Amino acid sequence: MTERALQRVLTGITTTGTLHLGNYVGAIRPAIKASREPGVESFLFLADYHALIKCDEPDRIERSRMEIAATWLACGLDTERVTFYRQSDIPETPELTWLLTCVTAKGQMNRAHAYKAAADANTAAGEDLDANITMGLYSYPILMAADILLFNAHRVPVGKDQVQHIEMTRDVAQRFNHLFGRGKDLFVLPQAEIEEHQELLPGLDGRKMSKSYDNAIPLFEGGAKGLKESVARIVTDSRLPGEPKHADNSHLVTIYDAFATPAQRAAFRTALRQGLGWGDAKQQLVDLIEAEIGPMRETYAELMAHPEKVEEALLAGAKKAREIAQPVMHKLRQAVGLRSMSTKANAKPTDGKSNKAKLPVFKQYREGDLFRFKLEDENGELLLASRGFEDPKRAGVHVNLLLEQGLTALQYVLADPNGTVANPSAVEAALKVLAAEKQRKANASGA
Ligand code: TRP
Repeated sequence: MTERALQRVLTGITTTGTLHLGNYVGAIRPAIKASREPGVESFLFLADYHALIKCDEPDRIERSRMEIAATWLACGLDTERVTFYRQSDIPETPELTWLLTCVTAKGQMNRAHAYKAAADANTAAGEDLDANITMGLYSYPILMAADILLFNAHRVPVGKDQVQHIEMTRDVAQRFNHLFGRGKDLFVLPQAEIEEHQELLPGLDGRKMSKSYDNAIPLFEGGAKGLKESVARIVTDSRLPGEPKHADNSHLVTIYDAFATPAQRAAFRTALRQGLGWGDAKQQLVDLIEAEIGPMRETYAELMAHPEKVEEALLAGAKKAREIAQPVMHKLRQAVGLRSMSTKANAKPTDGKSNKAKLPVFKQYREGDLFRFKLEDENGELLLASRGFEDPKRAGVHVNLLLEQGLTALQYVLADPNGTVANPSAVEAALKVLAAEKQRKANASGA
């Protein structure tokens, strides 16, 4: 049997502001590319609860969330492969946030960069240490830890400024495991993945492209015309057409490189050395960017005109995400002692049913055109999700095969990217229980 070692990669995007070309080259394009790698299961979400920490203008919250969702979709995010959702559609996230808040040391939150920077600025200004600081800002890292731990992500691609938050996530996960895991780990400890070789796109003036420097080239805003106007403002030296240019000293060339093939890069440098004028060079740059971005801009406009399509994609993503989050949260509630009173072994049975011992269970469900089944343990925790079957009867056949043959029958059941099994020995144990139960029933009815 092959044990599936799918790596879960998860990242969140705070939905404030609009995106520029630097975000596209540095974050969106590489993330979409990475999500197509085999062997990874990708989760990407709009961190709109985090956005509320930074912004109290409802209309801006709404607009930015819509624009950012439409941008990612327009840039080619494949929602079949990537679980793409809104943080605020997952009620398990704030629920887990509270469980984590209860085991997070306040002193550790005092040291979180974002809070510390704000507190230091207050002190420097002679203000009260905590002037204008909300509990949202203070607890920001705990909400982020919940985002990550809820899905037991292995890898979390983030910028350098977020590494401390991943370290805090590991700390709180470890503490939680220690307090409530009874020797078994409830949470995976995530790794920060810093994009070392991440392409940093220079802005119009050669500094890092950033809205705060006012040197950004917009991604879709302003259309092809806006792109052209923006590129026209790229600062170059004053060499005239016909004069040889130092191609490698020019940030215009760096921007060109981010969209060019190796052959195009070489040809562009040669042309500049041979005296290509900056005006013509800019036109070539516009054409190059437009070839990649133009079609995406059309899709973007289409999505912005039909917000219901975006809504639908996000709700489908939330559904997929919650299929994972709900059983995890259930298990965590059990672990901390928030248990149902009626299912306790010592609870008084009120009717015949509640007296029955709980068993693992197979459940069939439908996803799009396909039929799948899952196996849950006696506490409702997901043990196994099958591949999709076109015919529900085939799914049934495979349930029976699993019961008869155990793990040997597993391989075919998993053979597509949506089939998952976290812990084969737990599956094996549950199958044995079910097979024994089937036998017991057969004996009982035969007698
Ligand atoms: N704090 C992150 C940022 O501002 C966004 C974020 C929220 C995030 N939750 C996350 C990133 C979970 C990775 C994982 O960039």
